[in-house]
Amino acid sequence: MKIVALIAALGACATTPATEPYAWDLPPGFPTPRVPADNPMSDDKVTLGRALFNDTRLSGNGTQSCASCHLAELAFTDGRTTAIGSTGAIGRHNSMSLTNVAYNSSQTWADPTVIDLEAQALVPLFGISPVELGITEDVLLSRMRASYADDLAAAFPDDADPITVTNVARAIASFERTLISGSSRFDRHQLAPQEQRGLSLFESERLGCRSCHGGFNFTVATGDRIQMFNTALYDPYPAHDRGLAEITQITADIGRFKPPTLRNIALTAPYMHDGSLATLDEVIDTYASGGRASTSPYRSPLVTGFMLTPDEKADLVAFLGALTNE
Ligand code: HEC
Ligand code: HEC
Repeated sequence: MKIVALIAALGACATTPATEPYAWDLPPGFPTPRVPADNPMSDDKVTLGRALFNDTRLSGNGTQSCASCHLAELAFTDGRTTAIGSTGAIGRHNSMSLTNVAYNSSQTWADPTVIDLEAQALVPLFGISPVELGITEDVLLSRMRASYADDLAAAFPDDADPITVTNVARAIASFERTLISGSSRFDRHQLAPQEQRGLSLFESERLGCRSCHGGFNFTVATGDRIQMFNTALYDPYPAHDRGLAEITQITADIGRFKPPTLRNIALTAPYMHDGSLATLDEVIDTYASGGRASTSPYRSPLVTGFMLTPDEKADLVAFLGALTNE
């Protein structure tokens, strides 16, 4: 068996060494995540990436790691309204869940230029507005040389000098791509009657949730479809937080944000890009009224408002709770 596989691999590509393809652990129906050609998955990178993700030496003052704002037990969010960085700087945005990030068409709330997880990882490390991990390249590299030289060499065996910022980002991204979640009660076809009723509401034309939260990952912002919508939370949106328009400078893009996955959503309160809705009940009430700023001319035509009885609302919340990975 092994020899046959080796010959097949050599035949397919005679110039690269024959390595076993990475063994993804994917739920039924989930596609294989897109991986940049220059950062193929490997167990060594994932192991290293997990350690780096949890290591407070990745912040300048040693107080925070990625995991400080992305806690595994909260589906990799932090329970705060908006994030607080290692130096105490308060950010404007709610920490995002890393559930199924490998499938996102773009990363973060409203930046269509950050596509790959490798590029995203540099933002919390070196970003200054706001300061999150607040480290410099020089300090990061000297700490890597002191503590991770062997691990980086093992994870990047073809590199003459594996101790680079790029490789740190590559290892972290490889770990993040393994954060795949697809074994909720919904996936196992074990919905209770109330959750089943909630699913029917979720899928109904009347509520329209599926237009933006459809598909296997409960968001249309998947694969190569970059999608952002204005859900009329504000009109006008605050000058310091205008969504996609900050990048495109197009008026029609004001207030447009990415629809996050709804998987594990019961674990990730508070909600929305600025954490301004405390509970799923509040989120549903807001959609039912057509947005907090329902008369906004920038509101997506897909946000229409609807009537919902208290029982129906409870059914919908119950369904969202059945999207939690077990
Ligand atoms: C101080 C808190 C904080 C720290 C530390 C932090 N993050 Fe985040 N993370 C956030 C916030 C806030 C956002 C939303 C950013 C935005 O849109 O402005 C985010 C967004 C993300 C996203 C985008 C997810 C999506 O669905 O689009 C990824 C991926 C991510 N962070 C990974 C990391 C990694 C990797 C690290 C460590 C290198 C890290 N984060 C450190 C707070 C933090
Ligand atoms: C027009 C597209 C659209 C429709 C329709 C829509 N959503 Fe959303 N949803 C979004 C966007 C965009 C966000 C993020 C908005 C923001 O933060 O400003 C979001 C955020 C959410 C959040 C919070 C996610 C988080 O991680 O904070 C939940 C929960 C949610 N939607 C549920 C629903 C439900 C339930 C419905 C149907 C009643 C629905 N959505 C209909 C686009 C949509």
